[in-house]
Amino acid sequence: MALAEMLAAVKAGSAEEALLRRIDFARLPRHVALIMDGNGRWAASRNLPRVEGHRAGIESVRSVVETSARLGLPVLTLYAFSVENWKRPDTEVSALMGLLKHYLRLELNSLLRNNIKFHVIGQTDRLSAEIRTELEQAAERTASNTGMLFNIALSYGGRAEIVDAARRLIRDGVAADDVTEQTFADRL
Ligand code: FPP
Repeated sequence: MALAEMLAAVKAGSAEEALLRRIDFARLPRHVALIMDGNGRWAASRNLPRVEGHRAGIESVRSVVETSARLGLPVLTLYAFSVENWKRPDTEVSALMGLLKHYLRLELNSLLRNNIKFHVIGQTDRLSAEIRTELEQAAERTASNTGMLFNIALSYGGRAEIVDAARRLIRDGVAADDVTEQTFADRL
């Protein structure tokens, strides 16, 4: 979206307008990655249950995703749920999955409207069939969009990625001496 169009969408004299005018569009990053953190602390500082922090975190995600797409950012990756997060109490994990499902249903139209291509990374096989179906549908419905690529990382982890790449090397029959940074990187 051109600056003029973006300016038309914000209130004249507002903080948003001042921020917009400070952006150097020629130096916009190609890829921004965010890690969701602090939801629990946000809730605790307001004497609210943790789930309210997650709900508020999702509100921030919605506005970051839409604003990034409007600014013309090519790729946004959101690290939302790590492999370590599976160790949280069952009630919290299922609340998070419920919020994810709700987000996908609610935001699909906005992703389509903003020409955003949705993609999931991480160990998706650990997610329930129901959540996987929701994710696949969102990815399929937005597959032909040509604007920002929005990656959501679920059940992600640095060590998990290394283990997965090692498994792929072994399955592909790569000999030990042929394991190089490149053959490894090809399987990440
Ligand atoms: C970080 O806060 C948040 C998480 C680990 C989970 C966030 C995931 C969701 C809200 C699920 C769906 C996501 C999207 C984007 C639809 P924390 O609980 O680690 O907070 P703390 O560090 O203050 O305890």
